[in-house]
Amino acid sequence: MNAVNERYMTGFGNEFATEAVAGTLPEGRNSPQRVAHGLYAEQLTGTAFTAPRHANRRSWLYRIRPAAVHGAFAPFVQAAFHNDFGSGPVTPERLRWDPRPLPKSPADFIDGLFTVAGNGSAAAQAGIGIHLYAANRSMQDRFFYDADGELLIVPERGRLRMATEMGLLEIEPQQIAVIPRGVRFRVEVPDGQARGYVCENFGAPLRLPDLGPIGSNGLANPRDFLTPVAAFEDREGDFELLAKFQGHLWRAPIGHSPLDVVGWHGNYAPYQYDLRRHNTIGSISYDHPDPSIFLVLHSPSDTPGTSNIDFAIFPPRWLAAEGTFRPPWFHRNIASEFMGLIHGAYDAKADGFVPGGASLHNSFSGHGPDAATFEKASTANTTVPDHIVDTMAIMFETRAVIRPTRQALESAQLQHEYAACWQGLKKNFRASRN
Ligand SMILES: [Fe+2]
Repeated sequence: MNAVNERYMTGFGNEFATEAVAGTLPEGRNSPQRVAHGLYAEQLTGTAFTAPRHANRRSWLYRIRPAAVHGAFAPFVQAAFHNDFGSGPVTPERLRWDPRPLPKSPADFIDGLFTVAGNGSAAAQAGIGIHLYAANRSMQDRFFYDADGELLIVPERGRLRMATEMGLLEIEPQQIAVIPRGVRFRVEVPDGQARGYVCENFGAPLRLPDLGPIGSNGLANPRDFLTPVAAFEDREGDFELLAKFQGHLWRAPIGHSPLDVVGWHGNYAPYQYDLRRHNTIGSISYDHPDPSIFLVLHSPSDTPGTSNIDFAIFPPRWLAAEGTFRPPWFHRNIASEFMGLIHGAYDAKADGFVPGGASLHNSFSGHGPDAATFEKASTANTTVPDHIVDTMAIMFETRAVIRPTRQALESAQLQHEYAACWQGLKKNFRASRN
């Protein structure tokens, strides 16, 4: 175990081993006849049993009560949080939204989830659910797990304290957390309010990309990923366990905290990462690399080189490409792009894309810098480098078309004039060179 301090272990997908009470972890076998301290042994498996070793994810939990101990599930209604992405026509229009307002009445992380878009399904084990959260109170006696997908949580405002079965994650804006499918947790909002983005990954677990010619270092480095040490709650009361299962929420009464894992070992565990640690790479001669150079994590599909989901960021960086149009170029892709902004300003848009907002550019829909940004960048001096600071944009890019939900299309935050940002791109063409 590589401990960064007493609270976290470092590395990505490592075989971790941690115990909150000495002598908890069994020696020599995973499921001994009797576990120390009167605990139960339970395996939590996140990939096919027979997945290749490098992709296989499972952990052994040693806990006060098995996860099976709870009451009967019944449907639970939180109508804004779902996976109903529709099957009818989907607009190719470029879409953008203002930030959603913070809740006026009490709302915890689950109450405050709002589904913006998505594709695929939990049933197909492929695709993405894209949600926003806005919360002003902590979950105390409510616990949640998502059987449908892994949750990548990206705060834009306010810290999150996430108590999970495997230990405690604490993140602030510009940091992310990933909760594996099925892991139970609750979310506290220590600043009294919190807002951000959630990527629900129905496909293969997120992993670090291969680096090819970049070599053995760069982009997100494994040592910067933090996995919590074991921490448990021994608490009884009239609690509730919420489950997301096949696109809908369910509720079961539970008489104790399910965060009662005293020790665990394995490689299926939540983790956090500080996006400011990303080793961002770009051109030092001319032109841009493709945006895949900004990858943090990806969920591979069954097609080599084609991700179910790419999670990329656009962090502070130096632009040094000479004789080059330095903002992102005009483009159309087979991939579909959902973007958010979690800090500062984004260099490809003059205005209208603010922290907490979002944009959606679907497959082969033309987009790129707005007219004001084009004019500025076309006349900029590229013999000197440009330092982009105070920015952190994020992107969930997917193989399949991202379908906005009806509630997102009907929300007051939709910017109906967004596409006008390109109308000012005037004709400059002259056949003669003078
Ligand atoms: Fe794009």
